[in-house]
Amino acid sequence: MKKVLVINSSVSQLNNSDSLAMSNMFIEEYKKMNPNDEIINLDLNEAKMSQKTLTRNNIAEYFNQEDSFDFIEQLKSVDKIVLNFSMVNWGIPAILKNYIDHITIANLTFTYKGSTDGNAIGLLSNIQDIQILATKGGTGTPNSAFTEYVKNIWEFLGAKVKSEIIINEMMDIPPYAEQTPIENLEKVKEQILKAVKNF
Ligand SMILES: Cc1cc2nc3c(=O)[nH]c(=O)nc-3n(C[C@H](O)[C@H](O)[C@H](O)COP(=O)(O)O)c2cc1C
Repeated sequence: MKKVLVINSSVSQLNNSDSLAMSNMFIEEYKKMNPNDEIINLDLNEAKMSQKTLTRNNIAEYFNQEDSFDFIEQLKSVDKIVLNFSMVNWGIPAILKNYIDHITIANLTFTYKGSTDGNAIGLLSNIQDIQILATKGGTGTPNSAFTEYVKNIWEFLGAKVKSEIIINEMMDIPPYAEQTPIENLEKVKEQILKAVKNF
């Protein structure tokens, strides 16, 4: 039995989120194929720590049991992650950045101890795969500070990101802007169904 952590990082309303619709479809299909696996949900909109931005005024108490170590323990207990988010101002939603800031801690999720080449050793090697499901309002913006950044930081932490990143673009442009998230799934449905089989 595998444990799958499902992280919702979309800041859209629950019934109007294109990336959450992708995640829901992915998990629905995954459960059909893996009925005994455990699904754990984490909505970053509801987590206190993801509302906290690191500043010089809070750095002394920012990394604490409730906000950091509990979430790191959760990460060390799961096998796979499904992560959804949208592009926000050429980057990622701040709630996802705050989550990453809380869980990226030297000697807990990465270390330079034992490194012979100067590269960090990731300590989340228990995570066998991460499925990134993302959305964009347009299409012409670069993915470097968005999905590429997210993939790179998870790999830095030792997690594998084997699954192909799926991006549903042009969500704010007609006809997609006038359609529901369920209707917009049509564009990426085949990609999602294929990805579930390999996850
Ligand atoms: C504050 C804000 C900033 C955004 N910035 C961008 C952007 O830089 N590039 C882009 O393509 N879309 C941008 N969007 C559009 C969202 O990525 C798009 O609406 C997406 O479908 C929302 O996904 P979700 O429903 O999964 O939250 C932005 C949306 C918001 C609310």
